[in-house]
Amino acid sequence: MPASQHRDFLAIPDFSRDELLTLFDLAESMRTGAYTDKPLAGKSLAMIFMKPSTRTRVSFEVGAWQLGGHALFLSPRDIQLGRGEPIADTARVLSRYVDGIMIRTFAHEEIEELARHATVPVINGLTDLLHPCQILADLQTVRQHLGGWEGKKIAWIGDGNNMANSWLNAAYRLGFELAIACPEGYDPDASILARAQSATKVTLTREPHEAAEGAHVINTDVWASMGQEEEQKIREKAFAGYTVDGALMKRAARDAIFLHCLPAHRGEEVAAEVIDGPQSRVWDEAENRLHIQKAIMAVLMG
Ligand code: CP
Ligand code: NVA
Repeated sequence: MPASQHRDFLAIPDFSRDELLTLFDLAESMRTGAYTDKPLAGKSLAMIFMKPSTRTRVSFEVGAWQLGGHALFLSPRDIQLGRGEPIADTARVLSRYVDGIMIRTFAHEEIEELARHATVPVINGLTDLLHPCQILADLQTVRQHLGGWEGKKIAWIGDGNNMANSWLNAAYRLGFELAIACPEGYDPDASILARAQSATKVTLTREPHEAAEGAHVINTDVWASMGQEEEQKIREKAFAGYTVDGALMKRAARDAIFLHCLPAHRGEEVAAEVIDGPQSRVWDEAENRLHIQKAIMAVLMG
């Protein structure tokens, strides 16, 4: 396929609001089992993982298979990228074999470089900056359990990381209220924050209870992301008071749901009583990775 005809999914704003709504409908028909097409028949997805993964790896691989296609798991130990072959060359070569490339890596510039040189769609499976597939799965979970995000307040409690940045991108595109609580020094990306604030109500506070007040969705993530393991101790100090526990959940709306992209550290960013409690929707959230990514693959690669 000529380069001009393919589309990538590197960030949520790569899709318009209408395209996102269509994507959620498609993912929902996949979730309910109504959708039985095989748009990936005879097609392959290369999956490059420069960081570990349980959900992303399994959901993309199983999802590609369910759509009639096939997925290859490529770690840096397996491919020459891990020995220094340029990303651009990897993109050019993989594009001659496969119909789409999913990559999880560190610097966001690497995925942009890959996308510039690939002639097949590139899908972001997480970078240090963004985790767009996860937030689409989270929004599908919000729709499943709360009927949608219109008029809802979504709270982010914790690190201004790839997850927080993608929530900001989603708020920018879809226009819901987003309340973020981060310790000083751990804010989201400044330009992503400013863009979202220009489009919808986005607040940033140092007080988790302020963000949680009346929220319909309470969301958190690990304090030290992949690649930040050596900062664990410093971060535990910086994030003291940011644990999502039963008391914080009481600040939220009565029917609020709790989301976490997983993996979770019980007793750090979330108390066991919350993640294993009645308001938690984390297992549906994990399942929805499969459905939304199938919808993304069907649209980009089908
Ligand atoms: N939530 C998420 O992306 O999980 P994995 O790191 O297991 O893929
Ligand atoms: N912020 C986390 C998300 C893991 C799915 C990380 O980047 O490690």
